[in-house]
Parts: sequence; C-alpha cells; structure tokens
Amino acid sequence: MIYLDYNSTAPFSPKVRNYLSAEIQTDWANAASPHELGLEAASKLSIARARIAEFVDCNPKALSFTSGATESINTILHPSNIKALGIEQVISSQQEHSATLACLGRLEECGTPVVWIGANSRGQLDLSALESKLAGKRSLVSLMYVNNETGVINDVFEIQRMVASAQSLFHIDGSQALGKVQFSLSDVGAAYVSFSGHKIGSLKGIGMLVAQDTPSPLIVGGKQENGFRAGTANLPGVRSLELAVENVDFARLKVTSRLRDELEAELTRIDPAMRINGLGCPRAANTSNIYFGGRESQELLFFLSRKGISASNGSACTSGAIEPSHVITSLGFDKEYARSCVRFSLGPDSTIEQIKIVVSAIQEFLTGSNHQTVPAKNHERVGGLEVT
Ligand SMILES: Cc1ncc(COP(=O)(O)O)c(C=O)c1O
Repeated sequence: MIYLDYNSTAPFSPKVRNYLSAEIQTDWANAASPHELGLEAASKLSIARARIAEFVDCNPKALSFTSGATESINTILHPSNIKALGIEQVISSQQEHSATLACLGRLEECGTPVVWIGANSRGQLDLSALESKLAGKRSLVSLMYVNNETGVINDVFEIQRMVASAQSLFHIDGSQALGKVQFSLSDVGAAYVSFSGHKIGSLKGIGMLVAQDTPSPLIVGGKQENGFRAGTANLPGVRSLELAVENVDFARLKVTSRLRDELEAELTRIDPAMRINGLGCPRAANTSNIYFGGRESQELLFFLSRKGISASNGSACTSGAIEPSHVITSLGFDKEYARSCVRFSLGPDSTIEQIKIVVSAIQEFLTGSNHQTVPAKNHERVGGLEVT
C-alpha cells in the first residue's frame, strides 16, 4: 500500500502505535476524580498540555483540548462568541475548510456580515483587499495557515500585523500547519488558533484551541478545561496527541519536499499539459495538487486505488461526492478544471521508491484508453484574479 493522503488523515505515528498496544489500557481514569487514580490522570493531562504547548510555543493555560479542529472552529465562529467579542464583521476566504465555511453561513443567517477576500489563481490571498476591508470596523479574521488541498501557506505574520493595527482579532485554522510548518505561536501572536490531532498521527477526535482570552464555551456542563469545555477529559486522545507531537521530525520535511518535487517534475515531464496548483507560492513540503490536463480525476483515483495507491481530489469530508473541489473553483477555475485535479499529500514514511511506483502507475493510466478527457479549453473563469 502506498498512502499519499496525509492531509486527509495520518496513520498513527510510531509512538502512538506503541501507546495503543500497551499503555492506553491504564489511561482510563477520570482526571476530575478526587482519588489517587484521578490525580494521576490529571497529572498526565497536565504534563501532556505542557509538552504540546511547548511544541507550538504557547502558554499551557491558553491551550484547551477539544474533539478536533471542527469543534475549535465552531467555538470561535459561534454566534454567541462573535456577539460576546463585539465583532461587527467576519472576514474570510472561500478557500477555507468546510468547517469554517459552514460556521460562516450560520453567522450570516444570524445577521453577522461576512466579508470575503479573494485570491489569485495560485491561491495567494489578496492582502491589500484585507487591509482595506479591516478599516473602521472591529473584525474577526478567520483564515487557514496552510491550505489542505493546495498546501499554499498564508502569510499569517503579515495578516496578524494588519489585524492588530485595526484593533481586530485573528483566528487561524492551523490544522494543516501542525507538524508541516515550524512556527511559534508566540511569534505569530494571533488571538485564536485551532488544531487537529489526527493530521499528525494521533487518535481521531482530539484537537485543541489556543486562545489568548477565554471564548464563550461551545459545550457547557462540568468545569473541565477551566470551565471552557465541559465533558470528561479524553486522556487517551490527549496522550496520543502528546506522543504524535513528540514524533514530529521537522528535519524530515526536506526529504519530503524533495520527493514531492520529484513527483511533480516527473509528471509534468510525462505530460506538459499537467499543471501544479499553487506552484511558485510558499507551500507545505508534503502537498501537491495537480491538474491532469482535462482527464477525470475520479477515474485516475479509482485506477490508483486498485493498485494500492491512495490519493484524493478534495477534502476527505467531501470526497466520494461528485462535486468538484470548492478550493480549486474559488481560485477562479471552472468545475471541469477542478474535476481534473488530484491531491497527493506525502508523509514522513514516503519514499522515492513509492514515488517511482506512483509515477509509473500514472503513466500506465495516461497511456491506457480507459479514461475520458474533458475537451481542452482555457478553464480560468472570466473575472478570476490574475496570477501575480
Ligand atoms: C484545514 C482543515 N481545517 C479543519 C479540519 C477539520 O479537522 P477535524 O477533523 O479535526 O475536525 C480539517 C480536516 O480535514 C482541515 O484540513
């Protein structure tokens, strides 16, 4: 099996696998219980919080565990939190994950204006539009650090600078940045950052929200997480996140980006009609989103899957549905173009041998006659922003 779908979810990382085969069995106690077992669980929780906070460079008191990035995003973008913060408008981009887009839809229904900033066809945000839209209104800006489909990295430092000078707040969806970009949250300085654990090999159902103040809680009940997030602590989830973080090896990213570049070079050599989305932008080392010159991505994915190769053509939440990627269409391309795009997302286990197998499988697909092609044309939507 060759797994090139790490942006959808990562396999359990080696330390997490060891944990699951043994130690997890002792991590069943309730961290809020007053007895010895409870105190021990609370201590493990607090050690994990400190280690994870150190990894992202934030104050452990600012870090709350949630069930994942979706919950963290829902907390910040909940109408009651937006009201409590005195926010007059929310600014975001159509390239965001569906978790953010759905929250923004609800905010609009509840009467909060949502203002969109565009991007050029590579996926770079129009930051001068952001600056002008920030003027004169207390805003919450919600943008991702790394795009899950193209891997394009947003300049969160520059965005935070603009947001701070407009006395506004910045929420970052950091789901795809964790373990893929080396950052310090203290340096970034954003008010809120959402993270997902399973993207770096923890158990599913664990994530975190780093917040400089205390947002109004989404889930109310007990006083866990300092009253911010009710519900018995998910100690095995938290421990798995701690171990997944410990397993991150930033030095390996150099190898990963070389493998990704090799994949892109080989594919564009085979067929120059292929185009790499986001090329020329700062991108996460592991992600490649490729336009296959009009061939149906769904057919290629089935072909690869039959050969034991896993890739994707959109976010995992929507793959399986026929709708083409909203990220690609938001860059100004039409649906036919988006239907011909495939995302390969590599991981620390990816090897050059795997890349060679993938390239030759794609070559076999391209030379075979068992695939449809969409007639060639200029797929960029009229009015789409120019590549700069
Ligand atoms: C950019 C981004 N944001 C949010 C999420 C949601 O994360 P979770 O699965 O932890 O809820 C994902 C996962 O697909 C993602 O890629």
